[in-house]
Amino acid sequence: MAKRVALVTGGAQGIGRAISEAFLRAGMRVAMVDCDGEALEQAKQRCMHLGEVLSLKEDVARAALFLADPANDFITGENLVIDGGMTRKMLYV
Ligand SMILES: NC(=O)c1ccc[n+]([C@@H]2O[C@H](COP(=O)([O-])OP(=O)(O)OC[C@H]3O[C@@H](n4cnc5c(N)ncnc54)[C@H](O)[C@@H]3O)[C@@H](O)[C@H]2O)c1
Repeated sequence: MAKRVALVTGGAQGIGRAISEAFLRAGMRVAMVDCDGEALEQAKQRCMHLGEVLSLKEDVARAALFLADPANDFITGENLVIDGGMTRKMLYV
């Protein structure tokens, strides 16, 4: 039987990365999506020993739009983490 696959946006750091690592430890294949390509590559390198991991440099909005499109309603994802957002390089003044 095929391994279960998880797509985790905001996967390069913080909560998304922790979730990615937990899924990998549970034996899943993980696609880490993040808009920060450099951090994403570093995260992938650090997670590769845990299992099969794919990195995709994308904005979370694209994942949300893809899933919201009725043309894609055949997708029955069991685990989809939509993370990331306001914390990215935010300046508090
Ligand atoms: N850390 C907390 O205690 C906490 C508490 C409540 C809510 N949250 C929320 O959970 C989310 C994640 O928190 P965190 O602490 O892990 O943040 P973080 O800043 O450590 O990590 C967020 C990740 O999301 C990525 N990201 C940001 N915007 C993106 C976008 N548009 N598309 C793709 N990737 C994007 C960043 O590059 C980063 O790798 C945030 O939205 C935050 O507001 C966090």
